[in-house]
Amino acid sequence: MTLEECTLRPYNSEALNFCSPFDCGHKDLNDFFANDSIDYSNQLLGKTYCFTANEDPKLVVAAFTVANDSIKTTHLPNARKQKVNKLIPNVKRMRSYPAVLIGRLGVNSEFSRNGLGSEVMDFIKAWFIHDQNKTGCRYIVVDAYNEKRPLDYYIKNGFIYLFNDENQEREFLLIPDEAPLKSRLMFFDLIVLRN
Ligand SMILES: CC(C)(COP(=O)(O)OP(=O)(O)OC[C@H]1O[C@@H](n2cnc3c(N)ncnc32)[C@H](O)[C@@H]1OP(=O)(O)O)[C@@H](O)C(=O)NCCC(=O)NCCS
Repeated sequence: MTLEECTLRPYNSEALNFCSPFDCGHKDLNDFFANDSIDYSNQLLGKTYCFTANEDPKLVVAAFTVANDSIKTTHLPNARKQKVNKLIPNVKRMRSYPAVLIGRLGVNSEFSRNGLGSEVMDFIKAWFIHDQNKTGCRYIVVDAYNEKRPLDYYIKNGFIYLFNDENQEREFLLIPDEAPLKSRLMFFDLIVLRN
């Protein structure tokens, strides 16, 4: 299966009622797509889309949720601020850069490790650098589950950590030292695709 064999559609109540239950192998994400995504959309907090298989339109192959976000450099340590600013001309540096948040993303576990997740990511990247995108959007940000599979996936797709290491992330997010870090903030600079 490749994305070429799929159709993008809003994951709205019509799609939810029509399609078979979606399973990406992650309970929280499955619950979100099945039970919460429509409320998020109604509240204008995140829009969820899915790719369905052309040969079986009830089959959801992948789903993702996107929302507006930003990277605020005032909330970053100096070295990380430089990393974010690196490709931005001096005169255009700002305290806060426009970004899109991938709030949720999952690939049907039937098709995992087949390159579909990376195809979905390429699709999202292309969407937000497209001339018809209505707003400026410099970065893609994610708060990825602090687990090997998603972290490897985002790294493979060109994302880097917003903070140097877990301790720095805890310190800046005011998370106590002993608390487990459930997720890691990562970003991708879309400018590399415009050059
Ligand atoms: C993470 C996820 C989206 C990856 O989708 P996918 O279609 O399997 O991704 P790809 O086939 O494009 O794999 C790209 C890279 O991701 C990493 N990856 C994917 N599955 C992995 C696994 N089971 N273990 C370790 N790394 C994995 C690898 O680096 C892989 O590259 P490689 O195969 O060349 O080594 C999918 O596994 C998923 O939906 N997981 C559950 C939900 C989730 O964790 N979402 C992201 C958190 S917000």
